[in-house]
Amino acid sequence: MHKVTIRVPATTANLGPGFDAFGCALSLYTDVTFEETDSGLEITGCDEEYTGPDNLAYVSYCAVLASLSEEVRGVKIHIDAQIPIGRGLGSSAALLVAGAMGANVLRGNKLSTQGLLNITNAMEGHPDNLAPAFFGGLTASMVDNGLPVTVNFPLHPDWEFLALVPDFPISTHFARSVLPTDYDRADAVYNISHGAMVLKALELGNEKLLRNAMQDRIHQPYRRNLIADYDAIETLVRTTGAAFCLSGAGPTLLCITLDEHLEEKLAKKLNAITQANWQMIPLHVEFQGARVICTE
Ligand code: HSE
Repeated sequence: MHKVTIRVPATTANLGPGFDAFGCALSLYTDVTFEETDSGLEITGCDEEYTGPDNLAYVSYCAVLASLSEEVRGVKIHIDAQIPIGRGLGSSAALLVAGAMGANVLRGNKLSTQGLLNITNAMEGHPDNLAPAFFGGLTASMVDNGLPVTVNFPLHPDWEFLALVPDFPISTHFARSVLPTDYDRADAVYNISHGAMVLKALELGNEKLLRNAMQDRIHQPYRRNLIADYDAIETLVRTTGAAFCLSGAGPTLLCITLDEHLEEKLAKKLNAITQANWQMIPLHVEFQGARVICTE
């Protein structure tokens, strides 16, 4: 085999209080094709600025080959991304996962998925997007002695996810720079207790519990100031009864609901109350993680 295409789902990280720990795979995908060649690196399907050797798919591809003590040969990488860049839906994690899995498949599948998670987590620094991208579904992860440990949690089948995606990006690096380095004990207790409730509410399909639990004191109070429309959209979504949080580091805002008509309800009002242009993307949970969709 000399060519493989990897499909990786989008992911939403944090789910409110589960900062750097909770994540969920969603039904939006980035496909990345790796074809080994005799000459150099060629990257297509993305903006010129991402076609160099610092492309995350190539960086993780090389990291996996290094861990296998295998030579990096020429490679053509083609990226077909539905996941929007810099919007808090796991676009970077998707490239890291694709690169790791692509290299592993082309060189004989010697590493386990956990092995690939270990390598990519060392690059990303937190496993909350990577874990659901690899394993699918709802995950919680911890890093123990430098290594990520992930478990899947059950999800009620009736949840609807609605991503509200603005026309501007925010880099994760910047969104982390506005956070404090130390927190009060009361804030830690608040997040631990709310986080446990989020997982149970998602399992039970309890929208009221989820709405109350999906609040946090670690990141959203600081990041909301980066999004001029945050307050207006949160107020609007709360009138519908849906649960609401920032997706990952933002700027996408995520609604989780049992109401099949939420999109229609918001469509009438959303862009009338906002300064930026917001796109609504209805999504469901993707229970399958990254996978091979084509080989030659
Ligand atoms: N947990 C991360 C954050 C997700 O909120 O900064 C973004 O990668």
